[in-house]
Amino acid sequence: MQRRHLIQAASLAAIALAMPLAHAQGNTFKIGLVLPMTGQQATTGRQIEAAARLYMAQNGDTVAGKKIELIIKDDTSLPDVTKRLAQELVVNDKVNVLAGFGITPSAMATAPIATQSKTPMVVMAAATSSITEASPYIVRTSFTLPQVSVAMGDWAPKNGIKSVVTLVTDYGPGNDAEKYFKERFQLNGGKVVDSLRVPLRNPDFAPFLQKVRDAKPDALFVFVPSGAGAAVMKQFIERGMDKAGIKMIATGDVTDDDQLNDMGDGALGVVTTHHYSAAHPSALNKKYVEAFQKANKNMRPNFMAMGGYDGMRVIYEALKATKGQGGGDALLAAMKGQIFESPRGQVLIDAQTRDIVQDVYLRKVEKKDGQLYNVEFDVIKAVKDPGKAK
Ligand code: PHB
Repeated sequence: MQRRHLIQAASLAAIALAMPLAHAQGNTFKIGLVLPMTGQQATTGRQIEAAARLYMAQNGDTVAGKKIELIIKDDTSLPDVTKRLAQELVVNDKVNVLAGFGITPSAMATAPIATQSKTPMVVMAAATSSITEASPYIVRTSFTLPQVSVAMGDWAPKNGIKSVVTLVTDYGPGNDAEKYFKERFQLNGGKVVDSLRVPLRNPDFAPFLQKVRDAKPDALFVFVPSGAGAAVMKQFIERGMDKAGIKMIATGDVTDDDQLNDMGDGALGVVTTHHYSAAHPSALNKKYVEAFQKANKNMRPNFMAMGGYDGMRVIYEALKATKGQGGGDALLAAMKGQIFESPRGQVLIDAQTRDIVQDVYLRKVEKKDGQLYNVEFDVIKAVKDPGKAK
């Protein structure tokens, strides 16, 4: 008799415990953030996590009556792992939104899961043009390589650079950078002497840079993914390329704010094109950089963090617009067409392409208050991804 009472009491307690849990789940909005937290792309994961947490700290963790739960998974930047984690997040955790995606192969591998489960997938980092075409549920808050590379194809020939060798990492974004820079540069009368590609995993830049030295172009155009820039810069300086009269021009992935200040004075004067610099002189950006550094032991936010921060905003605003009641399709619809002032400048989520439209800046590495920064000196307003203009 006593035992039965005990069992009854225990199961009642279990139900009582489960009740608020079930209730909480109904009022929870889950964001599954899949990022490379370890391995070659770990800086991207670290930056985006910090940005997402900052956004939540600044904007609260309750939106439209829902408690926001951020579930962070480390995909070690292996696409098979990204896909498996995304599947688990959808099936087991029942996330409302998938987000993150540090590299193109990870985003591509996950696209079918977003489509099948009708889950909005916010790409905060990966930047190959075609990613948004891989699923109608993808929305991008980072950038595309064609978007920033075309600007360099216009700037270089107007600034005394007539011959170039291109050096890119051999996968989606590198191929995009090479193609769109080259096309525009040649259209403007420039000559591409050689096009070199280095592998994504454990690249050794030395033999490639030796080839560039021998070819003696006016400049070397470089794209490598965030995290690899310091290694290229180091080799470039060590080999005395600059002294041999070869300038470096690049997308801003190379003079990454995460690493730039440690690259040394050899990086001074390097001109790049990109959508975000920690030195962007708007009041909103100054506040953002200050808050980010304060919350992260003085770590400087890079362009990856920017994609994460704005990605969180796009998710929050979609949740508000749907009053916390919407499923995947309603959320997706509310993400399309969002327009707002970001720390990077004015941005728009193009309703047709679901890709970001933004300003692209010309920047030069300069010293400010004893630190190296990408200092903006010109801007091309409201650039759409040229890869979509078919
Ligand atoms: C990508 O894999 O799409 C990617 C990664 C890092 C970058 C740019 C693009 O800096």
